Amino acid sequence: MRFPDSFWWGASTSAYQVEGAVDADGRVPSIWDTFGATPGRIQNGDTGARAADHYHRYAEDVAAMAALGLSAYRFSVAWPRLANLDFYDRLVDALLARDIRPVATLYHFDLPQSLEDAGGWANRDTAYRFADFAEAVAARIGDRVAMWNTLNEPWCTAFLGYGTGVHAPGRRDDPFRAAHHLLLAHGLAVPVLRARSAAPVAIALNGGTVRPVSADPADVAAARRIDALLNRIFFDPVLRGRYPDDLEADSDWSFVRDGDLAAIGAPLDALGVNYYQPDLVGAADPPAPDPGNPYPTGGTVRHHTPPGPVTDMGWPIDPTGLRDMLLRVTEDYGPVPLYVTENGAAFPDRIEDGRVHDDARIAYLQGHLAAVHEAITKGADIRGYFVWSLLDNFEWAYGYGKRFGLLHVDYATLARTPKDSALWYRDVIRRGGLSV
Ligand code: FCB
Repeated sequence: MRFPDSFWWGASTSAYQVEGAVDADGRVPSIWDTFGATPGRIQNGDTGARAADHYHRYAEDVAAMAALGLSAYRFSVAWPRLANLDFYDRLVDALLARDIRPVATLYHFDLPQSLEDAGGWANRDTAYRFADFAEAVAARIGDRVAMWNTLNEPWCTAFLGYGTGVHAPGRRDDPFRAAHHLLLAHGLAVPVLRARSAAPVAIALNGGTVRPVSADPADVAAARRIDALLNRIFFDPVLRGRYPDDLEADSDWSFVRDGDLAAIGAPLDALGVNYYQPDLVGAADPPAPDPGNPYPTGGTVRHHTPPGPVTDMGWPIDPTGLRDMLLRVTEDYGPVPLYVTENGAAFPDRIEDGRVHDDARIAYLQGHLAAVHEAITKGADIRGYFVWSLLDNFEWAYGYGKRFGLLHVDYATLARTPKDSALWYRDVIRRGGLSV
């Protein structure tokens, strides 16, 4: 299974999850520092204070990427480091020196705490502040970046950060208002990036394939409802300049102003899709409200766990969900160049004789790359694939307990060891595809 010669073979990280160095060089606190300092929010009381110390070990990490043959590295720029962006300057140069394309995400969950204190994403002004941040980053590294991702997974920020509150800032608020201001931030940043940088502009959205548990019309309607709340709430405004009709009843939307949707629908050069698992849903009758459910359906939708294997996160493993998502995006919103900006899995590793064995991760990646290949053969314009993650890292509310990395990180010594999956990925890249 060969992939196009121009295919980008990448790996992803995000600033707060890998960098550490939270007090270095003028960085200001982020909402995740605050969240981590609040007892009970993060498993084991973990925080990102040290993480994988990528901030100081980036040169070693870039060398490891080169050894794997990666052609792209997707990282995020920490907004709390706005006062001193030198680190990203050095990182980008180190990547280019190894022929690795720098893909920069501008918002991967780490809002400066001062902006949260002013209302966070519930406050429209945050969108304008984001455009200013984007401009500063573009002025600094926009001459060398290979692609921009404005936002990473605004669904998580809106529905976990301001919905259930399991992500920072931990608020139970109006997720639709936060979602709209995130989308506005994206829309305002697009022309700012274009003015300062020739690099293609994209956004990375959660792509979930939502399937009804049966053909019963009530279950089909439940799947459509979740699809609106997970996918179309972001894909439609970004790619069609409008919110889906069947979403409008879920909020009062008075925060949408004239001109917002035109800005949000600014043409993009590419689309990033992050995929981990499919969703299987059906109607709940009678409704069963659950405060832990991020979808504001009043408990009318029930989430089912499909039979079959799951990852260490408990997420069902189903590569057909990735294939179907890529084909669906192509059909409904295309033609648009697509990148799988995140895909991967947490599994417990087995360490033996200095090696790190992770057969389950290899099987997961193999299956999902085969699904990408199938989507390409069926007409999707997929230009690249990024494993989540390059390194074991701080998995948000789960702390360090869940390991997603190609490189194992010993959190006591910070030593990195390529897992078997890293060596497998290196061989896939060398070959330009999968051997089947
Ligand atoms: C995604 C996030 C990423 C990582 C993976 C496992 O939702 O974008 O930061 O946590 O999940």
